[in-house]
Order: sequence, then structure tokens, then C-alpha cells
Amino acid sequence: MVFYGLMTRILSFNSVSVSKAAAILKSGGIVGMPTETVYGLAANAFDSKAVARIFEAKGRPQFNPLIVHVNDIKAVSEIAELNEHALILAHKFWAGALTLILPRKHDSGLSDLVSAGLPSVAVRIPSHRAARALIDACGFPLAAPSANKSGSLSPTTPAHVAQSLGNAVDLILADGACLVGLESTVVDCTGGKPLILRSGGITAKNLSDSLGFEIEYDLGYHGGAVKSPGQLLKHYAPSIPVRLNAIDLEQGEALLSFGSAKFMGVKGGGAAADLPDDMVRHLSVEGDLYEAAANLFAMMRELDSPAHKAIAVMNIPESGIGVAINDRLRRAAFF
Ligand code: TXA
Ligand code: MG
Repeated sequence: MVFYGLMTRILSFNSVSVSKAAAILKSGGIVGMPTETVYGLAANAFDSKAVARIFEAKGRPQFNPLIVHVNDIKAVSEIAELNEHALILAHKFWAGALTLILPRKHDSGLSDLVSAGLPSVAVRIPSHRAARALIDACGFPLAAPSANKSGSLSPTTPAHVAQSLGNAVDLILADGACLVGLESTVVDCTGGKPLILRSGGITAKNLSDSLGFEIEYDLGYHGGAVKSPGQLLKHYAPSIPVRLNAIDLEQGEALLSFGSAKFMGVKGGGAAADLPDDMVRHLSVEGDLYEAAANLFAMMRELDSPAHKAIAVMNIPESGIGVAINDRLRRAAFF
């Protein structure tokens, strides 16, 4: 393998770069992989040493289980059991931004590290062309958490991956910004009724409509047993404080707006409209929640500067994909 000094290798998506990335993965390396939700940090899910490198690169506590990415239901059924509810959701939402927690098969061949010793495994079929091409070229499932240091923002561009992980990754396969911009919705299908463990690109209403009953959440805010370590309260956090539901600004605060911020004032004098460019990002001027989701992590990152006292975020409606946006924001704001 060739390394170019201290520069992280970033290659644009094409058949040559996919072959190179697959060769790295086959020899136990780790690769930054684009998906439709966020960039993942991929390794061969059958190879414990390779999976261990993911934890090392992320600085992630070893007990966090990872999502296994495959290209079709047949590959899912080789590693996990799909019950009736899981099959309904799988057929409706795969390929796409849905992760199912399923009972793991005894002879799955998966590294135990992937599911942190749990009897279940998280599985997702991504729709992104680069992820799919890479999985095809490898011929084995790819374990991939979001490609960021543990506890920091999920990356939605190749540059984010490089900033967060630098030389800890062997290669970054680059294919632009992620369409969804939020991690997948995680649904636990190991029990009788499916439960949402993490809200995301696919909403509770989407899920309930296809199941034919109201799906419930188990987001674990209130300190009980943490089912999914993604439920750790402080999780998606910039390095400066985040203040939610801001209706005006304190001096020195940066603004993350939703809808119009035209008439927002700054305490002690001034208007949000007059803030310098580096202190304002607009999630969606039109108030489009999907646009806001796609912009969320990139914009939080851009405002995350020690030059600012905090990031003040305007109210986001708690409906549709807004539920997932607010979930991420509450975690970012938690101290
Ligand atoms: O969109 C996504 O899901 C991205 C892309 C790369 O696919 N991946 C991602 O992975 O967000 P990660 O590792 O950052 O989040 C995985 C979530 C965590 O909340 C983890 O705790 C949960 O899935 N999880 C994984 N395996 C689990 C299991 N066996 N039981 C319960 N929760 C599990
Ligand atoms: Mg993550």
C-alpha cells in the first residue's frame, strides 16, 4: 500500500477507486465510505482485527455495537433472523435509511466485536451507489459506524471524515455530500413489537403506516438501561454549548436558523440579520425539514468555533423528520 506522507488519501468514486478500496478492506484495512445517510467507516464484518481498527480510529468505547451493511435480503438472512415485522419493514424501506436490530444467527460468521457480544445484530441495506459498489466488490458484509471520532458530529462530506479521522483511515472514497444528512432510523425487531431506538431519516409515521399499527419509541432519555449506545445522552456534540429554541440571541452567540430570522434581535442591541457570515447558518430559509436535516451536521460543524460563545438554534417543529433533528439537537445541547 502506498501512503502519501501525512496526507489522508481521498479518491473520487469510480471503478478504479472502488477496486482500491475493496483491496484495502480485503487486507484488513478501514475505509471512509459514502452512504445516503452519513459517511461510514467500513471494515470487513467477518474480520475482528479489522473491526477493532474501527474502534481504535473512532476512539469509541468497545461496547458500542456497529451496523452491518449488505446489499440484499439474502445476505441479511445469512447473518440474521427476519421475523414478520422485520420483513414488512425490509421490503418497504430497503434499500435506504433504515437499520433493523435482528437476532444474530449462530453461524453468521460475523466478528463478535461487531455486535459487542450481543445476541442481536444491526443490519442495513444502503441505497448509495458507492456503498453498494464497494459491498459488491468486497463480497463480504461491511461493518460501519459513522466515520467520526466518538461523541462528535457525524460526517456528511469526505472533508468531514478527513478532519475527524485524518490518517487513522486508510482511504476515503469520496462521492459528494450525503443526501439524507442524518443517520438511519434504528428499529429493534428482536421482540414482539418493533420499537424505534433511534429516530432518523425514516419517520415513525412512515413505519406505522406500513406496519398497520402505531410504532412506539424506546429512545432511552431517562437514564434506564441503555439499549442502544446511540442513546447516550451527550452524543452528537459540538465543542461549544448549544442553546435550543432560541427566540433571540445573546451577545457572542452564533445562530443556526430555521425559517426566517429577519426579525430576530440580539440582546443589548443589534439584529441577527446584521451578524457576520461566519456567525450564521440557515438550516432552511423556507422551513423545509428535509433541507434542514441534510444541512444539520455540516452547519453545526461550521459554527463550532471557540470564537463563538454558543450556538443558538431556532425552534424546529416536532413533526416528521423534525423529530430526528430535535433528537440530535437535544443530545448536542446536553451537558
Ligand atoms: O446511517 C447510519 O446508520 C450510519 C451509516 C454509516 O450507515 N451508521 C451509523 O452507525 O450511524 P453508528 O455506529 O454511528 O450508529 C449505530 C447505532 C448506534 O446507536 C448503536 O448503538 C445501534 O445502532 N446499534 C447497533 N447494533 C445494535 C444492537 N445490536 N442493539 C441495539 N442497538 C444497536
Ligand atoms: Mg455515530
